[in-house]
Amino acid sequence: MVATSHIYLDNAATSFPKPESVYAAVDHYQRHVGAAVGRGAYRASVNVTAVVQRCRKRIAEFLNAESPERIVFTFGATDSLNLALHGLLGTGDHVITSVVEDNSVLRPLRELHERFGVEVTHVAADSTGQVDPADFQRALRPQTKLVALIHASNVTGGIQPIAEVGAIARAAGVLFLVDAAQTTGHVPIDLRSLPVDLLACAGHKGLLGPLGTGVLYLRPGVESRLRSLRQGGTGTRSEDDHQPDSLPDKYESGNHNAPGLVGLEAGVAWLLERSIDSVAAHERQLTRRLRDGLTAIPGVRLYGPAADAERVGVVSLTIDGYDPQDAAAILDQSFGIQARAGMHCAPGVHRALGTFESGGTLRLSVGPMNTTDDVDATCEALRQIATT
Ligand code: ALA
Repeated sequence: MVATSHIYLDNAATSFPKPESVYAAVDHYQRHVGAAVGRGAYRASVNVTAVVQRCRKRIAEFLNAESPERIVFTFGATDSLNLALHGLLGTGDHVITSVVEDNSVLRPLRELHERFGVEVTHVAADSTGQVDPADFQRALRPQTKLVALIHASNVTGGIQPIAEVGAIARAAGVLFLVDAAQTTGHVPIDLRSLPVDLLACAGHKGLLGPLGTGVLYLRPGVESRLRSLRQGGTGTRSEDDHQPDSLPDKYESGNHNAPGLVGLEAGVAWLLERSIDSVAAHERQLTRRLRDGLTAIPGVRLYGPAADAERVGVVSLTIDGYDPQDAAAILDQSFGIQARAGMHCAPGVHRALGTFESGGTLRLSVGPMNTTDDVDATCEALRQIATT
C-alpha cells in the first residue's frame, strides 16, 4: 500500500501546516510589496517596516518581555544560539551546559573551546533525559560566565527545570541562556517571572512563521555584554561607521528576511488570538492520547517523562526489531505519516537514554494543526508495524 494523503508529525523540526493567514501574508508581501524593511521613505517600505515592528511587539507581548526592542530577529534558533554563545564567551570563560542540548549549542561550544580555550562542563542527565539542578550548582566556578540549558528536549520532550537552574545562575551572578526551540508557542513562557537572561527560539516552529526566522530575547543590560557577530547597515545612523549600540540594531545588520517576518507576524497573531493556554491544552491532550495509544502496543518503548506537566508534544520511541530509520520510512511510504528518526542533532541525550548505539529513536512531534484522527491513525500504523 502506498499512502496518498499525509499526516505531518515533525513539528519539532518545523511546524506544518501554518495558519492560512501566514500563507496570505507571505503571498501578499511577495506579490504586492517586495520592499526592504527600514530602508525607504516610500509607502511600501514604510508599510513593511510597520509590520515588522508589529511582529516584534506581538512576540514581546506573547513572551511578556519588557519591551519590543528586546526581541532581536535572527534566521533561526541555531542562529540565535550562535549569537548568544559567540557574542558572550571568550578566552578565560567557563560555561555550564548539559548533555541534553542540541548540536546548536554543543557545536558552538566545541568551536569556542578549540579556538579560544573556553572551558565547558556538560551536566549529565538521568535515564529519562532529565537534568538535576544540583549538578549546575556543583559545576559553578569563579570563571563561570554562562549557564546554557535547553527548555525542553527535542528528543524526549522533557521540560527541564529552568526556573531552578536559572535561580542558581542568578544567585551566582552568572548569565542564563535558554534554548526554547521546543517550548515557544507550545507552553506559556513568562519572561518577567523567569530568571532567564537570554532566550533563543525559532520563528518557524511553535511561533508558526516561515523557515528562516528566529528570535533572541535579551534581558535589560545583557546588550552591554553581548558582542554583535555581524556588523553593517541597519538603516539608522548611516553617517557613522561604528556599529550602533541601540537595540535591536546592534544585532540586526543587513536586510531583514521580510517575507519571513510578515509571515511570522501572522503566525504570532494567530497564537495570541487563540491563546497559548488553549494551544497547550490541545497539544497536551494529543500527546497523552498518543502516548497512551503507543503504550498499549507490544514491542514499543517510549522515552522521556510520562507526566503531562513535565513534557511537551515531542514523543520518542523505539520498536523492538526495527531500526528507527526503517520504521520512519515505512510510516512515510506505507501510511503517509511524516516523522523524523535518528539522533535529532542531539547525541548526548541518546547516550543518556541508551538509544545512541542502536541508531536513536523514531520521533513524533505534534503541533496545533494535528487532530485526534492523526494520532489514532499513527497509533494504528505503528501497531501494524510492530506486530507484523
Ligand atoms: N534539531 C531540530 C530537530 O530536532 C531541527 O528536528
